[in-house]
Amino acid sequence: MSVTGQSSWPNPMGGAHWADLEQICPERVSYGVPMSRLTTLRIGGSADVLVRPTTAEEVARVIRWVRQRQVPLFVMGRGSNLLVGDGGIRGVVLQLAPPMDRWKAGVEGTTIYLWAQAGLPLRRLMREGLRRGWGGMEFLVGIPGYLGGAVAMNAGTPQEGIGQLVKTILWVDPDGELVTKERKALEFSYRKLELPHGCVIVEAHLRLFEKDAWEIRESLRERMRRRRQNQPCETSSAGSIFKNPPGDSAGRIIDEMGLKGLTVGGAQISKRHANFIVNLGGATARDVLALIHEVRRRVAQGAGTDLELELQIVGEAS
Ligand code: EPU
Repeated sequence: MSVTGQSSWPNPMGGAHWADLEQICPERVSYGVPMSRLTTLRIGGSADVLVRPTTAEEVARVIRWVRQRQVPLFVMGRGSNLLVGDGGIRGVVLQLAPPMDRWKAGVEGTTIYLWAQAGLPLRRLMREGLRRGWGGMEFLVGIPGYLGGAVAMNAGTPQEGIGQLVKTILWVDPDGELVTKERKALEFSYRKLELPHGCVIVEAHLRLFEKDAWEIRESLRERMRRRRQNQPCETSSAGSIFKNPPGDSAGRIIDEMGLKGLTVGGAQISKRHANFIVNLGGATARDVLALIHEVRRRVAQGAGTDLELELQIVGEAS
């Protein structure tokens, strides 16, 4: 079945042409999905269409489909670093999430090679690692994301990023072709991977090493203790809002400006960590954007620093 023409756009509800997607990903296409359900900030209007593929090939087919029909596409993982506008997202949202979370591991001497699909939750990866004695990724503990998104933004701490564990990645390019990239062809930096525009990471190969499970447990415990102490773990948030400026900390600067507790509608600068915005309940994207604007303004004025967003912002304002 082919697209019924641009006249039916952007009103996809019930549009017969979406049946194509349902053929590519049977029973994994939903319509009018509130993005507040798919983001850790619990904010955002509805996505026209949500597609949740289970294999790299399905991702490739969806990408070819949207490209041929010039339908807007947004790709997401856990939604833990994401602010979606109150007006939602037009077109197709492609979510790489369980059950696109298969993994397998091989051992060579003391090296562990782990292959996994992009929708694997980091939390699950950490649990398997602890159970099996896989060392080297302890710094990822407490990060709520999924593997693909974590690789795409080189998630981690200011000192360490998941990129340092990557051996190869498999991505789908904008033409819908599967491309394998070796580590040496990849450029990771602080919270960033140089990923060609429109490419979607679908699988990653990580290199870990054997480590005593007790030692891993101790390291995870200590890191989680610090996180719980310094970060608002029990309230809805999207993690750090801004990247740290070189050699400094966005949280420290915002705190110094006296902005902890600053509130717009239901959104507030966390009283525990100034680089987090928490949803006190009922916050809108508009509230969060106003808060971001105000923080940037006051930090630029008071500290002379231009804060760069780590948070990804997508969708329509209203
Ligand atoms: N600080 C303050 N006030 C605050 C917050 C922090 O004075 O309100 C000070 C702290 O006392 C410390 C310094 O700023 O001296 C750094 O703070 P912290 O150790 O909390 O680390 P961070 O740089 O704010 C980074 C990552 C976090 C990661 C932690 C721990 C960025 C933008 N953030 O935070 O990552 O969990 O280190 O490793 O790099 C995320 O990216 O979403 C995230 C949560």
